[in-house]
Amino acid sequence: MRRVLVTGKGGQLATGLADSLPAQGFEAILVGQPDFEFDQPATVERGFADAAPDAVVNCAAWTAVDAAEDDEAGAFRANALGPLMLARLCAARGIPLLQLSTDYVYDGAKGAPYVEDDAPNPLGTYGRTKLAGEWAALAANPMTAVFRTAWVFSPVGRNFVKTMLSAGAQRPELRVVADQHGNPTAAPDLADALALVLARVRETGWRAEYRGVFHMAGGGHADWHGFAQAIFAAAAPHGGPSPTVHPIATADYPVKARRPADGRMDQAKLRATFGVALPPWQEGLARVIRALGTA
Ligand SMILES: NC(=O)c1ccc[n+]([C@@H]2O[C@H](COP(=O)([O-])OP(=O)(O)OC[C@H]3O[C@@H](n4cnc5c(N)ncnc54)[C@H](OP(=O)(O)O)[C@@H]3O)[C@@H](O)[C@H]2O)c1
Repeated sequence: MRRVLVTGKGGQLATGLADSLPAQGFEAILVGQPDFEFDQPATVERGFADAAPDAVVNCAAWTAVDAAEDDEAGAFRANALGPLMLARLCAARGIPLLQLSTDYVYDGAKGAPYVEDDAPNPLGTYGRTKLAGEWAALAANPMTAVFRTAWVFSPVGRNFVKTMLSAGAQRPELRVVADQHGNPTAAPDLADALALVLARVRETGWRAEYRGVFHMAGGGHADWHGFAQAIFAAAAPHGGPSPTVHPIATADYPVKARRPADGRMDQAKLRATFGVALPPWQEGLARVIRALGTA
């Protein structure tokens, strides 16, 4: 097992995998739009055939949560039909598919960290289409592992860390939601963990217990307001902005898609099955702040 096809080139996680996979002795073959586009199935088949992969990590997804509410069909094509196509191709080749998913498959009403057996109940289009993608991938390829992650941030792309740093540089006071809880996840840490999972699969061969759903997110949890404060605290010693961050309620920050109030995920199954765990999210934040050049 050597050649790993990574979809979503240019995205946060795929960019991380470009470093993490070679570090574990894999060759990362990155594909992205427009050459690899789920809306154009022929490009997917061609990209897959050209790569001749030994495993696939599907990072490509419609990740614009609010915009998905206005185009469920488009989000479904990317988040459900895309994984289905890849899973069928993987099944025909007899190779593993690592499919990324989200804490937004949960409604956030449990009041405690979710475990993988808890019933999903997405509140919006993004979570609904990602859940359909999980089912499609698991049904079409017996060698599928689904990894639900959350609150991903990275030195590249659009994410909360970069948004906060840019808003904080422009305004002395910010208002940030304090009543939504989750697991902030540094894309470089997530990429390292996925590469370690693949290394484990390479070592043991595919096992029945690898098939299924796993939580894979930064260690510990936060609310958005606390996360924002941590971002400014981490960036300030390196010249980052230090605005005052006021806590507000979700109701005071209207957005199109409803989000889970408490999507925290327990990650014991990941550790027990693959021997893998992500570092605390604060370490991931320091890593990303360094990479952003504020260090
Ligand atoms: N970001 C988060 O906070 C978060 C949270 C939970 C789960 N996840 C999941 O984690 C995975 C990686 O997320 P990420 O943050 O790395 O995402 P990202 O930075 O938004 O990257 C997604 C990639 O998918 C590509 N893409 C979008 N629609 C496509 C289509 N129809 N066909 C082919 N490619 C398409 C995008 O290409 P363009 O750039 O050209 O549009 C982009 O390269 C995704 O499965 C996501 O659902 C993310």
